[in-house]
Amino acid sequence: MDNHECTLDKIISLCKRRGFVYQSSEIYGGQAGAWDYGPLGVEFKRNIQNAWWKYMTQMHDDVVGLDGAIFTHHTTWEASGHVGHFSDPMVDCTECNARHRADKLIEDWCRSNDFNPEKPVDTMSHEEMKAFIVDHINCPVCGSKNRKYTDVREFNLMFKTYQGAVANDSSLIYLRPETCQTIFLDFKNIVQSNRMKVPFGVAQYGKAFRNELVFKNFIFRTCEFEQMEMEYFCKPGTEDETFDYWRKERWAFYLKYGIPEKQLKWHHHDKLAHYAKDAYDITYNFPIGFEEIEGIHSRTDWDLSQHMKFSKKDMQYMDQEDGNKKYIPYVVETSAGLNRNFLMFLCEAYEEQNVGTDGKDDYRTVLHLDPRLAPITVAVLPLMKKDGLAEKAKEIQNMLKEDFVTDFDVSGSVGKRYRRQDEVGTPFCVTIDYETIQEKLEDGSNNLNYGTVTLRFRDSMEQVRVPLYDLCARIHKEIAAYKPYVKN
Ligand code: GAP
Repeated sequence: MDNHECTLDKIISLCKRRGFVYQSSEIYGGQAGAWDYGPLGVEFKRNIQNAWWKYMTQMHDDVVGLDGAIFTHHTTWEASGHVGHFSDPMVDCTECNARHRADKLIEDWCRSNDFNPEKPVDTMSHEEMKAFIVDHINCPVCGSKNRKYTDVREFNLMFKTYQGAVANDSSLIYLRPETCQTIFLDFKNIVQSNRMKVPFGVAQYGKAFRNELVFKNFIFRTCEFEQMEMEYFCKPGTEDETFDYWRKERWAFYLKYGIPEKQLKWHHHDKLAHYAKDAYDITYNFPIGFEEIEGIHSRTDWDLSQHMKFSKKDMQYMDQEDGNKKYIPYVVETSAGLNRNFLMFLCEAYEEQNVGTDGKDDYRTVLHLDPRLAPITVAVLPLMKKDGLAEKAKEIQNMLKEDFVTDFDVSGSVGKRYRRQDEVGTPFCVTIDYETIQEKLEDGSNNLNYGTVTLRFRDSMEQVRVPLYDLCARIHKEIAAYKPYVKN
């Protein structure tokens, strides 16, 4: 491997060094599988979420939003099937007591040994998984070659707690393992309050919690994560065309924000979840291989029917355009992981680029992020602190703040400052120099309508001189016209 390629370790190191992501509770030795998003991480994450929200709601007239509570009545999860079915197969090494996810253990082993199992792992029975593990896999924790394992059994992934002073069945609460259930619980409210007509969708993002047995690969699989989900309610019989439509739309979203098509792949589910009629994942080619970033599921009328059964409330929709016929709508779901999107956009944007001249190597680390996603849009850099340049630069920054997330940097050479901004993906740098303050009004002042600045572009490293009065508009224009960077 070329040592300038993107690896997960390089991404983790950049994230920590530049304030994207830190290990949670680091001063106490770290909380396994939990991560904090730092000053740049929180901006970047919010930009991805906003891009998704805009794409799903603003760009689709028939999709509205919801922000449901994390706490819901515990019957929600009995009705949805999560109490009974939401589990992963686990197996313990009886020598060191390490607990493993059986399916992941097999998948990882097959990948690192370039081995093709006779049948896909997600279609193996518990007995088949155990047999495979005993035949092939030494415990990755203690390394024992004896391969002594318990039987493979199911482990429910929901976190449980109790609300209030008394812990009993009625105060039982589950932390939601997916965000979408409140959309089903509020289906009737949304239809009535907003006069929604089937077909329509409801989008929601927020935290979800799963008691994952294995967390590795940084923020890829964690116990606490964020989902961006949309449930689209359609007339029974139209679910297949609706499913195809949303598969295309979600694929297009990733292309729009700069993921090249060759880096994405569909994965069709051979074994379906308890609620699904059909399901595909969009997978991305991470440095660890192709892995899921989003699931698109045809969920039938499972959820609404189940909530109707458990709550005894009528969840049917009355279709006025079809002679007041009553039915339970079918549902197509798009369910994306925000944290996995975060990791994907970082990996895709990362480049160690040789920008040396005259045959000399000179590498810069740069994130070619779409400007709409970049944590900082414009960095303002006065050439010098003195001679009024820093003051003028502050005035310009204040003007830009109204429209963009900005940064201000006065330390070190301008070249070094450009490199620092490249490393965090800042698409535009504005440099204030003596020419900027040269032009003064007759009364001796120089206001924001006078003078010019250097506008420097991250991807091409080109610089142009821009009059101050046009700076904001020019940056807006550049963002609108941005074409995803194509790496060599
Ligand atoms: N409502 C459907 C649902 O939750 P899912 O395939 O289990 O479907 C959807 O999850 C997305 O949520 C996944 O594609 C992934 O991006 C994200 N996700 C799931 N579990 C995760 C975890 N433990 N850590 C980070 N992201 C996770």
